[in-house]
Amino acid sequence: MNRGLNRFAILVACATFFLIIAGALVTSNDAGLATPDWPLSNGQFFPRMVGNLFWEHGHRMVATTVGMLTIVLTIYILTKEKRQWVRRLGIFALIAVVAQGLLGGLTVKLMLPLAVSTAHATLAQLFFCTTVSLAVFTSRSWIEAPSLPPEEKATEKGSLPLRYLCTAALVTIFLQLIIGATLRHSAPWDQHLPTQLVLAHVGGALAVVVALGSAALTVLRRHRQEKFLTRPARLALVLLVVQLFLGLAAYMTRLASPNDPQPLNPMIGITVAHVACGALVFATTIMLTLRTYKVLGVLVVQDLHDYQEYQVNHVSHV
Ligand code: HEM
Ligand code: HEM
Repeated sequence: MNRGLNRFAILVACATFFLIIAGALVTSNDAGLATPDWPLSNGQFFPRMVGNLFWEHGHRMVATTVGMLTIVLTIYILTKEKRQWVRRLGIFALIAVVAQGLLGGLTVKLMLPLAVSTAHATLAQLFFCTTVSLAVFTSRSWIEAPSLPPEEKATEKGSLPLRYLCTAALVTIFLQLIIGATLRHSAPWDQHLPTQLVLAHVGGALAVVVALGSAALTVLRRHRQEKFLTRPARLALVLLVVQLFLGLAAYMTRLASPNDPQPLNPMIGITVAHVACGALVFATTIMLTLRTYKVLGVLVVQDLHDYQEYQVNHVSHV
């Protein structure tokens, strides 16, 4: 395990989380077109950060910093990391951040079309989760993951494997993030949100509650003693509850916002918090899912199968 590499991966993941907040502030302040040009802002490399330019140009600056940090992280991984798949994920992170920057530029040039802004919001979540995964894979807790006792591994056989439950929760959350992004970008603050999309998003929230709820509760029931699994499961449940309340509050402030003279702070704060907490729910579920594959994955289950066969043969010989 390379401690420096792990620390740097954590730094990039935290910086990306900050960038998601900075991006959401652009949308909630309706500052996306504060400057219509790109890559320059108002024809300048560094304009005066006044009015909405503070949010739009500020977001570009934070994005540039994260882009540079990602380049350094990829080089760091390529020089220090031996596992081929981690090296590949490092290269993927670099490609994703470049694509994300280009999408950001494109959405400005095309004047914020729904499809491009939604794609930009979705790729942001995917990129964040890539950086979180890199932080997980380079961590000590991953490399020295505990070995579960055979009876706990045996719970994977004969019932729905936990790793499939977690994967289902992950896919449901991802779809919910896409519906949320479509909802958010389909009406600015001075227009009402489309009812059908709101209903789809509420339906998505119910699906997430069922999928993530059953995955996390199964972890707590089957692997009560394994902090490696119970910690992300508990955290995901807490974040989910917070996210549901933030969603409700976001809906209420957005219901009132078309009557406001400009985007007001309560609406801005709550919608930004809802985007940020959505990213945290997704990231925590990714961590939980990766960990279930690590300690209950195909190879581990195969080990268990061999172990049981060995026991049967051994006992029958005796
Ligand atoms: C690593 C790079 C980047 C990341 C992770 C990122 C992330 C984000 C996020 C999370 C949002 C908020 C989406 C939402 O609230 O629904 C956003 C909005 C936005 N970003 Fe970025 N961004 C990046 C780079 C850029 C760049 C280089 C530009 C260049 C102009 C840009 C322009 C915008 C604009 C204009 C919005 C507001 C879109 C709207 O209101 O429809 N982004 N970004
Ligand atoms: C599992 C629970 C939920 C998740 C993971 C989630 C996630 C998200 C995300 C990520 C966005 C913004 C996407 C983006 O632009 O990047 C969003 C938008 C939104 N969500 Fe949720 N959401 C959840 C539940 C709810 C609930 C229960 C409501 C209540 C009605 C709700 C109401 C909203 C509203 C109103 C917006 C648009 C905010 C705006 O226009 O600025 N969400 N959601």
